[in-house]
Amino acid sequence: MKLADPTALFDHAHVRMELLRQRAFNLRWASVEEGVIPLTAADPDFPCAPEIAEAIARYASDRYLSYAPAEGLLFFREAMAEFYTARRDVKLQAAGVMACDSAAFGIMAVCKAFLNAGDEAIVFNPVDFLFKHCVESCNATPVLWDMPLMPDESPDFDQLKDMISERTKLICLCNPLNPTGKVFTRDELKQLAAIADQHNLIILSDEIWSDIVFEPSRYVSIASLPEAEARTVVVTGFSKSYGLAGLRAGAVFSVNEKLVEKVLNASDQRSTVHGCNVLAQVAATAALTQAQPWLSGFIEHLHEMRSLTVAGLNATPGIQCAAPQGCYVAFANIEATNMNAEQLCQKWLSEAAVAVVPGLPRWFGSRAEGHIRISFATSKTIMEEALDRIKNCMHS
Ligand SMILES: Cc1ncc(COP(=O)(O)O)c(C=O)c1O
Repeated sequence: MKLADPTALFDHAHVRMELLRQRAFNLRWASVEEGVIPLTAADPDFPCAPEIAEAIARYASDRYLSYAPAEGLLFFREAMAEFYTARRDVKLQAAGVMACDSAAFGIMAVCKAFLNAGDEAIVFNPVDFLFKHCVESCNATPVLWDMPLMPDESPDFDQLKDMISERTKLICLCNPLNPTGKVFTRDELKQLAAIADQHNLIILSDEIWSDIVFEPSRYVSIASLPEAEARTVVVTGFSKSYGLAGLRAGAVFSVNEKLVEKVLNASDQRSTVHGCNVLAQVAATAALTQAQPWLSGFIEHLHEMRSLTVAGLNATPGIQCAAPQGCYVAFANIEATNMNAEQLCQKWLSEAAVAVVPGLPRWFGSRAEGHIRISFATSKTIMEEALDRIKNCMHS
């Protein structure tokens, strides 16, 4: 499909509310009471690119849905290698790519591969709960590194150096950083790489948000740095950029193929207990090879939504919000409301019928306290309505 205006697909007219109410779970439309606007889990309100649906339908119409190789289908792995070589400057070969069922499982598989009971892993604070969860599932200890709450500030690398012990094996990098929206600069990544090198640590780089970056910020993958490529394992997925969360599609990759071999061995995919289903790989391949115009339109729409959301929040009494550099979530400070995040979220849910994610330690770590997270991957109409309701309820 050729579109004159790539943002046209992100008009409110394309939001299929009746389908979202049936199909969008995980704190979203199908999980909330009718009338509630859920700006909760980061999952777009728009249907996926038509090219992806067509690719799934074409593949399924042959009616052969046999086992895939444990490491994933070759066409998917080749598409990943081409994409990351061309767009992220990572010297990736298909042999260094492994398909897996979701980025969440990719994080778990990397932790299983590189952590033993009693080991330590550096985990950001705040960050998505998955890192802590996966490290602890390996009976290892997450050691929390404070992240700046303002996206344009740098973390304290001396603090990181002091936190590393003989038991530290892994640094979990989340770039762009959910929930603060920070995009790491080349210089920051170089500092991180130097510390990892000095202590012989594996870097787990979660890059699921790497397409969602707002100019003038630019994305740099730590796997593209010559000094880091041999010790970096990247985890990514297709839920955020392409709206394919329900397909549970993901990938683990590295320039250092031996690291991916270790992850595959640890993943239980060789036993078929885990594995990425073939339709997810077909969809992910179509996303990488055919859905880039759709993605450009989505990012352009998100640019507008970011301004709208941040301005609306800052016009609300007691709320302060910096513009994220990446991710389609706004991470707002609510301390001036004199309520904690749970109280404020409860007030907005009951009085404004708007659901947002409270910055609770169990979701993001202790540094998220006093904050809420709001997904803006929706239409202007829905966000304007939500912001109006929130403002009115804070004025009343
Ligand atoms: C940083 C990060 N990693 C991983 C995930 C999980 O992605 P997936 O749906 O592919 O499991 C998320 C989802 O919010 C995320 O924000």
